Amino acid sequence: MAIHYEKEERIFTLETARTTYQMKVDDFGFLLHLYYGGKVEGSMEYLLTYSDRGFSGNPYDTGLDRTYSMDVLPQEYPGLGTGDFRGSAVVICNGDGSECCDLRYTGHEIRPGKYGLRGLPAVYAGEGEAQTLEILLEDPVSEVRVRLLYGVLEKEDIITRAAVIENGGKSSVCVEKASSACLDFVTGEYDLLSFYGRHAMERNPQRTKLAHGSLRIGSRRGTSSHQHNPAVILAGGDTTEDNGSCWGMIFVYSGNFLCEAEKDQFGQTRVLLGLQEELFHYPLKPGESLAVPETILGYSDAGFGELSRMFHRCIRSHICRGKYAAEVRPVLINSWEAAYFDFNGETICSLARDAADLGIDMVVMDDGWFGKRDDDNSGLGDWVVNEKKLGCTLGEMIGKINAMGVKFGIWIEPEMVSEDSDLYREHPDWALRIPGRRPVRGRNQLVLDFSREDVKEYIFDRICAVLDQGNIEYVKWDMNRSITDVYSAENQPGRVLYDYMIGVYDFLEKLTQRYPDILIEGCSGGGGRFDAGMLYYTPQIWCSDNTDAADRLRIQYGTSFFYPISAVGSHVSAVPNHQTGRITSLHTRGVVAMAGTFGYELDPGKLTQEEKEQIREQVKLYKRYASLIRTGVYYRLSDPFRDTCAAWAFVSEDGNRVLFTAVMTEIHGNMPVSYVRLKGLKPEALYEDVQSGTRYYGSALMRAGLPIPLEMGEYRAYQREFSVVG
Ligand code: GLA
Repeated sequence: MAIHYEKEERIFTLETARTTYQMKVDDFGFLLHLYYGGKVEGSMEYLLTYSDRGFSGNPYDTGLDRTYSMDVLPQEYPGLGTGDFRGSAVVICNGDGSECCDLRYTGHEIRPGKYGLRGLPAVYAGEGEAQTLEILLEDPVSEVRVRLLYGVLEKEDIITRAAVIENGGKSSVCVEKASSACLDFVTGEYDLLSFYGRHAMERNPQRTKLAHGSLRIGSRRGTSSHQHNPAVILAGGDTTEDNGSCWGMIFVYSGNFLCEAEKDQFGQTRVLLGLQEELFHYPLKPGESLAVPETILGYSDAGFGELSRMFHRCIRSHICRGKYAAEVRPVLINSWEAAYFDFNGETICSLARDAADLGIDMVVMDDGWFGKRDDDNSGLGDWVVNEKKLGCTLGEMIGKINAMGVKFGIWIEPEMVSEDSDLYREHPDWALRIPGRRPVRGRNQLVLDFSREDVKEYIFDRICAVLDQGNIEYVKWDMNRSITDVYSAENQPGRVLYDYMIGVYDFLEKLTQRYPDILIEGCSGGGGRFDAGMLYYTPQIWCSDNTDAADRLRIQYGTSFFYPISAVGSHVSAVPNHQTGRITSLHTRGVVAMAGTFGYELDPGKLTQEEKEQIREQVKLYKRYASLIRTGVYYRLSDPFRDTCAAWAFVSEDGNRVLFTAVMTEIHGNMPVSYVRLKGLKPEALYEDVQSGTRYYGSALMRAGLPIPLEMGEYRAYQREFSVVG
């Protein structure tokens, strides 16, 4: 049993293999947080202290006792209005306009299995893999109820949290703010690791020491965003990749989010993760409810590396679904950087011919195949194949491609509409727009109101009509702007962005059910919606529009803190790189793309015979390593932001096979040698370098490291396979 309830003391304890999470219902019915961290025994209630703290209010029920204050006590789900002046997990505006939500315990249930959340992605688990604790809290005056949900995946060392807010009262209320997780720490100095970025340069780690006050990151863009990923790590000041305590939080949601990390007047720390409060006022009529998306929690006392590996396992086996979650993905060639909008059916067939010649499994026809779409100013919403451009029907083209032994995939951007489109001319009110205002354009396109059933249904039918035209085995689902003009002709403004996300998830759910054999790759201008919510529907996501191998070292490093390599869309593109102008070798581009789902995004017609031969070998090599890359345990071996080389390794679960990669990021005259220490090997085992036959003990590779030979040339890469002898 992973969940225990001590009836006398009213203490809940959640146990995973290596962690303990504990909370308590106190004498007044408040749900207090006691502990989350490495395994401990017994009650942790002794951590709570009580003193008279000036200007920290006392609940009326405590009588004249001035030592009891919600402003000081650690809590599970603090609501605004109880005398806690720190950030609140939930803010409710009641029917009379007052803002108060005084939540008290009314009951709980412990049940087998992992809870689900209606309409939202969430961690799932097989029989016997998880338990659920549901705690019911209620504000006795407004009768607003909160069902706090805890999922415990004991073996995976994962705890999940979510909340469902219900209006059990007689008048309407409005949810002004809602988080799914609150972590309170009564003591300790912490840093917050967050992952910021921009289009084409996503997920750069940033470590900030928490000081008195509050550090807030989040998104107001309608998507989880390139600018801040919805996942953070709270770490001790001296925590490193391999040592020290850290708590990770991943929001399983793809829309606006808010993370607040606050150090209070007594040096206590609170971290909240949930829905962004701006552009959000969610009215609930009596009987209505709102599900707050889930947060995945993990704790490691062995540094960031172990925390990441925990999250990788969880996302691979308990978030990603469908046939491809557990399958090696096809190596593909995508038409975008090969031809952009300038293609016809013959261009795509010729890419397919090259794919067949090079050993590539699939050709993907990116943007430009539908409506009037020869550049990015028109056509979105008109999901009708442009047969004139292709020179044939889609079915005929796919037939030809399949006859070459090559699979076919296609690009779509269902959430968007161009003003210059038949759809917009017919239904201008289907786009999000504020009446009387001119909309903000992004990539010269507007956003469709996916909070509306009729809009979603129409687009769904159009997309299905295309997908039914031939043997389509892959779809790239794109979303290419931030959302503005948050106003719907049919929905209440404060609900639009949340309902929009629910609409997108609903669409994706229906699509995956109707086409279970299609592999869907998520995308939002690259990695603008790279989150655990999307990974529930699309087991891989295009990591960044930046395909430069050197920049990708950093982008993929940041991404790896939470998301498994099997989720990372990564391709070899042409040089000079189209985003940076940088030149790197084909070998380097290949090994960097191999830390991902692997594919190509270039025009093979421009390659020399030698390059083509190199690509044939590269594809063969990738296929040799594909399952080790997908299921292997991933170790970061250096920090590409600081070190002279970027290095990582995949180690098979049994420790017998290793794929090691290092890319030099700096070159200087007469420079010192970089030694890279491997991780996760069996110390006593003898490993052989499969290419050279050189043998090393695991202990040597881990303790003394491997010298990276000094050779000329920037960004030169080393890839070595080791396997245990005997
Ligand atoms: C986005 C994607 C690219 C490509 C273009 C097409 O930017 O990230 O990969 O599909 O759209 O317009």
